[in-house]
Amino acid sequence: MPIRCAVITVSDKGFSGEREDTSGPLLKQLLQERGHEVVILEVVPDDRATIEERLRTIADKGRVDLVITNGGTGPAPRDVTPEATLAVIEKEMPGITELLRAESYKKTPHGVLSRGRAGIRRSTLIINLPGSPKAVKECLVFLDPVLPHAIELIKGEFGEH
Ligand code: MTE
Repeated sequence: MPIRCAVITVSDKGFSGEREDTSGPLLKQLLQERGHEVVILEVVPDDRATIEERLRTIADKGRVDLVITNGGTGPAPRDVTPEATLAVIEKEMPGITELLRAESYKKTPHGVLSRGRAGIRRSTLIINLPGSPKAVKECLVFLDPVLPHAIELIKGEFGEH
């Protein structure tokens, strides 16, 4: 079964049109290349309340298995994606972000500057990725071995281990 995905780019500049968002469309393309469906693709500003509202609404409608956010995970003053994500998830999945930071560090020491979180709300997995196209591409490769099984388990579709 394809994974049904939402891609949310978190970027003040992307939202205002000051900078073209290339990471969102890239994520969509990379997910589709893996056989997944991208049913939502949008850009929101670095505003905690807005991010929380979008994550809650999307997860609570129950139409997507996976929400990938990109951007707003760093230590800069406007970076609040991790805080918004923590506020809406019911269970954290720390192994996913441990994997992302450990593997990202091998690509660039700055990989540890991402404060991204991952967790579950209802039956939707939410994962924060960093914002750059390079980071997005690298992180999806790191997730490849674990995503399908994680989604199966969250949806309760996997009986025997
Ligand atoms: N992870 C990977 N795999 N590759 C990268 O190039 N860039 C890092 C980090 N994670 C990077 C990465 C940098 S430079 C920053 S500042 C943080 O992600 C946070 O990025 P964000 O604020 O765009 O979310």
